[in-house]
Amino acid sequence: MDQNSKGLVLITGTTSGVGLNTLKPLLRFGWEIIAVNRSNKRGIKAAEEVLTEDEMKNIHFKEIDLSDLDHVRKGCSEILEKFTKPINSLICNAAVYKPRLKRPERSPQGYENSMAVNHFGHFLLINLLLDNILSSEKEIFINGQDTKFKPRITVLGTVTANFLELGGRIPIPAPANLGDLSGFKNGFLSPISMANGKKFKPGKAYKDSKLCNMATVQELSKRYSEEKIIINSLYPGCVADTKLFRDTPWLFRVLFPIFQKFITRGYVSQRMAGERVAQVATFTEYAKPAVHWSWGNRQKTGRKAFSQKLSKRIIDPKISKQTYELTQKLVGLI
Ligand SMILES: NC(=O)c1ccc[n+]([C@@H]2O[C@H](COP(=O)([O-])OP(=O)(O)OC[C@H]3O[C@@H](n4cnc5c(N)ncnc54)[C@H](OP(=O)(O)O)[C@@H]3O)[C@@H](O)[C@H]2O)c1
Repeated sequence: MDQNSKGLVLITGTTSGVGLNTLKPLLRFGWEIIAVNRSNKRGIKAAEEVLTEDEMKNIHFKEIDLSDLDHVRKGCSEILEKFTKPINSLICNAAVYKPRLKRPERSPQGYENSMAVNHFGHFLLINLLLDNILSSEKEIFINGQDTKFKPRITVLGTVTANFLELGGRIPIPAPANLGDLSGFKNGFLSPISMANGKKFKPGKAYKDSKLCNMATVQELSKRYSEEKIIINSLYPGCVADTKLFRDTPWLFRVLFPIFQKFITRGYVSQRMAGERVAQVATFTEYAKPAVHWSWGNRQKTGRKAFSQKLSKRIIDPKISKQTYELTQKLVGLI
């Protein structure tokens, strides 16, 4: 088989958790992968622990720190230079969650860091790679067959950013809400640390950043027709034992997976979550625009994914457009 005719997926954040567990299914489905991490060394080490030598031959590693917009720019131009074939499918997976911070951490550009990594870094990455992704609609070789694959962008969303679901209404520290976006409007630099310009709440900063991820999917889907590209988000379920929770209190880390497994029954294994992400990013049945895919909050064997309704805070066209345009400014695209 001509290696050059294999389809190409780029995924961020594969040193652990969902991203790491997405690699194997993608390779099994016949894709070649660019794994983007802030440390290539750790990215390669983690992949080597779960993949065979043969599988490793189909992964390229690219170091990009998503918190640094200059690094994202440099990394994207290097990717565009290095790879002669376009990216068919982009998966925005990396994230940080630091609910115990007393003061905001700042990115190299001076932005609150969870918004910088989770939203700004991915937003810039998507925009810089978009033309390349759009140009990828041609026959590629997947699982022994020449296939036409429509370009795809998949973004990891979460239940805690969706006010329509119970998990999105948890008042501690506050539900996701961008308010009047005055924090973004006023430049989002110190002392500003929240999109709504109000007091720093680290847990809410994470939820807000994921809301921005999901609003970006909605706005991008309006700007680029489904004839050209499919852009969607998903909630893979509560993967309660990943390193995402590394900055929570140790007792929470012990009890949270037990609570999710036996009380809420929302727990999903890292393996299952990776399988879901790989499928949403590549299977034809998920090629529907602007859908937020979910398997519900109580996991049931054999349950099929469905289009989860999203709150106005995410899908309101005025909010998603404004969030998109303000982000364009903050990341230096306009
Ligand atoms: N776990 C859940 O229950 C759950 C539920 C809903 C949605 N999600 C979403 O699923 C995605 C994956 O989360 P996870 O649970 O698998 O967490 P995880 O194990 O902590 O993985 C996060 C990944 O992001 C990377 N990352 C962090 N900061 C980065 C930066 N500045 N530049 C590049 N990469 C960076 C991490 O790399 P390092 O090793 O360098 O830190 C790691 O590879 C996230 O988008 C999360 O919001 C998770």
